[in-house]
Amino acid sequence: MHMAFREETKAAMEHFGGVVEEQLERAEAMKAAADWTDYDSLDRIVIGVCGGDGIGPYISAHARTVLEDLLSEEIAAGRVEVRTIEGLTIENRVKEMKAVPDAVLAELRDCHVILKGPTTTPKKGDPWPNIESANVAMRRHLDLFANVRPVKIPEKSIDWVFFRENTEGSYALGSKGVNVTDDVSIDFCVTTEQGSDRIIRLAFDYAKRNSMGKVSVVTKANVVKATDGKFLDVAERVAKEFPEVEWDDWFIDIMTAKLLDPYRAKDFKVMVLPNLYGDILTDEAAQIQGGVGTAGSANIGKRHAMFEAIHGSAPRMVEEGRAQYADPSSMIKAAAMLLAHIGRPQQARRLEMALDVCGQFERRLAMTGRSDGADGALYADYVLETVKDPTLEDRWTRHRESFSA
Ligand code: IPM
Ligand code: MG
Repeated sequence: MHMAFREETKAAMEHFGGVVEEQLERAEAMKAAADWTDYDSLDRIVIGVCGGDGIGPYISAHARTVLEDLLSEEIAAGRVEVRTIEGLTIENRVKEMKAVPDAVLAELRDCHVILKGPTTTPKKGDPWPNIESANVAMRRHLDLFANVRPVKIPEKSIDWVFFRENTEGSYALGSKGVNVTDDVSIDFCVTTEQGSDRIIRLAFDYAKRNSMGKVSVVTKANVVKATDGKFLDVAERVAKEFPEVEWDDWFIDIMTAKLLDPYRAKDFKVMVLPNLYGDILTDEAAQIQGGVGTAGSANIGKRHAMFEAIHGSAPRMVEEGRAQYADPSSMIKAAAMLLAHIGRPQQARRLEMALDVCGQFERRLAMTGRSDGADGALYADYVLETVKDPTLEDRWTRHRESFSA
């Protein structure tokens, strides 16, 4: 018997039908996706830099300086090009009423990799219209499915790498939920076989290649049964292909607690998790490392990759005239991840070591985000000077040993 649905329900059903069709198509597109970009085969690698909003232009300029310095020979020889991409600002996005304006997107597609400053994400009630997040849109348009976020705390023997699924879950249709009536709102959460397989496979593969030994799969599959249940099922299947990598599964709530457990924390290595849990857990992890300003983030897809800070654009710092005191470590860390991704492991490693020395071991400059601390330019100089120190390797090893002693 056909139920007599009210008009609002019918409209919601119609909307849902469109959403389902779209997701089925996305799954098909994933099946047909091209293979990974081979950076070694390119004559020239194009790196796009977007400043973003708020403190973004400040900290990304510092990261760019460091990056250009490390690649100076290759830039001079034309093997690498660093390109400025304008227009990914909240003002311009609002003007065009697009999360990523078309012209900007076309320019981004022409780059192999992107270094991106944080962008403002409006929410209901902000002075801006409630447009979709530029991050989320960019991740979706360029299919940057793996959000890789490392967190290291040498003094606690913590070496975590989070593989956050970056295109699905609660984000896939984050801007397409429905307010069915004034009383009832419904959002969607999507998990696909293909989307789960590719992120989980990448996490296991990473654990295997880097001898990390263990992958922890984090869900809430006991409650969120269809989508998280699928994620866990896929993990179980993929894990069988990696007999050398141990794995376990955790629920997100207890995992949030265990990252703070001094007896347990160092036992976690690689973690793989759906989008929203990954968003939340990686902020917590970054805070444990010394603040969200210290963590970098890679958004990796088969064709493109984008590197950014894990934090937001801190408009308050700009309003209060403190933008120049923002810590650029997160963006410099993102630049190091970019170097590793395009096959420049030596430069990446030197930069990582310099960041450890400046931010964890020596801490000669305090970054407080205010005028009582160092400013970002001075800090970037400190990092660059450290990168260029011919004794960096020894300096790093010495500190590392005294920290773990
Ligand atoms: C992040 C950020 C973004 C996210 C925001 C800005 C949309 O918090 O990269 O973690 O939620 O993914
Ligand atoms: Mg976040």
